Amino acid sequence: MRTEVAIIGAGPAGLLLSHLLAEQGIDSVVIETRSQDYVLSRIRAGILEHSTVQLLDDIGLGTRLRAEGQQHRGIYLQWPEERHHIDFTELVDRSVWVYGQTEVTKDLAAAREAAGQQIFYEVTDTAVHEVDTESPYVSFVDSSGRHVRIDAAVIAGCDGSFGPSRAAVPDRVRQTWERTYPYSWLGVLADVAPSTDELIYAWHSDGFAMHSMRSATVSRLYLQVPNGTDVNTWSDDRIWDALSTRLGHGQNGWTLQPGPITDKSVLPMRSYVQTPMRHGRLFLAGDAAHIVPPTGAKGLNLAVADVATLAPALTALLRKNDGSLADSYSDDALRRVWRCTHFSWWMTTMLHTSDDPFDAQLQLSQLRWVAGSEAGATGLAENYAGLPIGF
Ligand code: FAD
Ligand code: DHB
Repeated sequence: MRTEVAIIGAGPAGLLLSHLLAEQGIDSVVIETRSQDYVLSRIRAGILEHSTVQLLDDIGLGTRLRAEGQQHRGIYLQWPEERHHIDFTELVDRSVWVYGQTEVTKDLAAAREAAGQQIFYEVTDTAVHEVDTESPYVSFVDSSGRHVRIDAAVIAGCDGSFGPSRAAVPDRVRQTWERTYPYSWLGVLADVAPSTDELIYAWHSDGFAMHSMRSATVSRLYLQVPNGTDVNTWSDDRIWDALSTRLGHGQNGWTLQPGPITDKSVLPMRSYVQTPMRHGRLFLAGDAAHIVPPTGAKGLNLAVADVATLAPALTALLRKNDGSLADSYSDDALRRVWRCTHFSWWMTTMLHTSDDPFDAQLQLSQLRWVAGSEAGATGLAENYAGLPIGF
């Protein structure tokens, strides 16, 4: 089989890339290890920054987002006794949208299906070959057990942090940067109306907590827990008690409304960057090249920004034989990657508590400055609502 771009991974990065390429008349084939149902139901990110929404609008995929998503002006930043609203719209004239990654993926998958995009789900043994030649190819075993080879002009590694693409960049070329954090998140989804109009990020001496949402009737909440936490040690009652305490139960008349929990999981936190994001005819995008801890809500948005940079680069390469944007892709994408890596690290280390009382004082001082100074608040707003694509 032959195509112009072989895309590994049908997450947001892979599906969006195939969509953007098709708009330019470029043919692609997508391969994915999981089933379509699994990919469409995986609960992950929930916040879309300004430029992600703009891009989805521009490609005609903003309709359901505009109808069912919720536009937020900003977030609440909280520590015991104090809750402050950081108003992004007022500070930087940009907003964010609450619209789950599951919904973005559904919209992308429906658009690709309507366009007749070839997607192989439930493949095994994915391997990339000959990426430093002009004739790279991908091999895999399809869901019926057939061995398939796809020859392509270019391979796009959009296969997340566990896929084979990042390891296809030889050791002599690649460099990695990594930070693991001494805490994880316990994430829950609950069938209850959110107790807040916009997200609450709360510092508390028991640990960080966050109140997010998916719709007018579904809440998404997170608690800082130690690494290695067994989800079964957290009963629903224990979760609601901890959330109520950390989110400031009873404070200024505010209460957290509990409800039936429909999903519970523990998420480890890690920062990781691999460079370069291009090797020969292999281009990496999204989690395949970098991971951020979720506190800044950047993972999905960064995957979208990578692909928005990669699609025009591949179009120029394949349609005009102009390799200049492809040559600068890695450097261009990495500028934003490192900005988001720093912002995510900063939000994470400002809000998650440790046993060190000195750290706690520095965190509280930082939070007071961010919430109380226009310069501090603007820095958070500019990064959270998202810098323009190409920054
Ligand atoms: P992915 O969505 O990981 O997609 C990669 C795809 O490649 C997957 O579908 C995978 O099955 C497929 N694949 C892997 N190996 C192969 C192979 N060998 N062959 C073919 N296909 C393969 N970000 C936030 O901002 N906020 C959050 O709350 C948040 N929560 C998260 C929770 C979890 C459990 C995880 C893992 C991530 C979370 N993220 C969050 C990060 C965000 O979801 C990711 O940054 C985003 O999904 C990146 O998109 P992607 O397309 O690059 O990668
Ligand atoms: C969500 C996740 C995040 O990591 C974040 O910073 C904000 C919201 C969410 O899942 O809704």
